Amino acid sequence: MKTNDLVNKYGEMAADIGEIIISEDQIQKRIQEIADQITSDYRGKYPVMVGVLKGVLFFMSDLMLKIPIPVEMDFLAVSRYSSEARSKSFVRLLKDLDTPITNRHILFIEDVIDTGLTLNYLLKSLKEREPASLEVCVLFNKPKYRLIDIPLKYKGFDIPDRFVVGYGLDHKEKYRNLPFVGLLKAEALH
Ligand code: IMP
Ligand code: MG
Repeated sequence: MKTNDLVNKYGEMAADIGEIIISEDQIQKRIQEIADQITSDYRGKYPVMVGVLKGVLFFMSDLMLKIPIPVEMDFLAVSRYSSEARSKSFVRLLKDLDTPITNRHILFIEDVIDTGLTLNYLLKSLKEREPASLEVCVLFNKPKYRLIDIPLKYKGFDIPDRFVVGYGLDHKEKYRNLPFVGLLKAEALH
């Protein structure tokens, strides 16, 4: 789509988008498929869906609205310090869960997984609390720079190793509220 058309459809933020990678329709269609799978896998189990703030907000909410069985939700918040290289980054827990999860079925929801360092750190912390089960559901997977192998039970899309924004993903806290996922123009990436 041309910039003018993007701006007419999605507003002024879309002027900074160079290319749409995954459209709003594609995202919603895939989430419905994942929701159907989760619904049949977790019927009768009353799982807790655990999300990591803030990027997971829209995915988690759209996903839950498409799952017609009882589920609980809870959130973690982390900050991730990356000094220079990906491998040198580390994670700090800013907000822990409100609910105890021992003997509960936990479905961990993430917006995007890149190196896997964030997810690995959080899964370790959840496993120590001895849940009945612990599975991962991620919307966007960037396989190229994975440092730690993490089994992804539910996966939305494999995406190329490019920095993307929209549908919860930000650049300096901006662009989260675009309903699609896109690449930023070079001039917007500073
Ligand atoms: P990991 O620890 O390398 O797997 O990084 C995952 C975290 O990095 C995600 O939770 C996001 O906050 C952030 N992230 C990774 N790729 C992108 C991107 O393309 N756009 C926005 N944030 C990203
Ligand atoms: Mg995140």
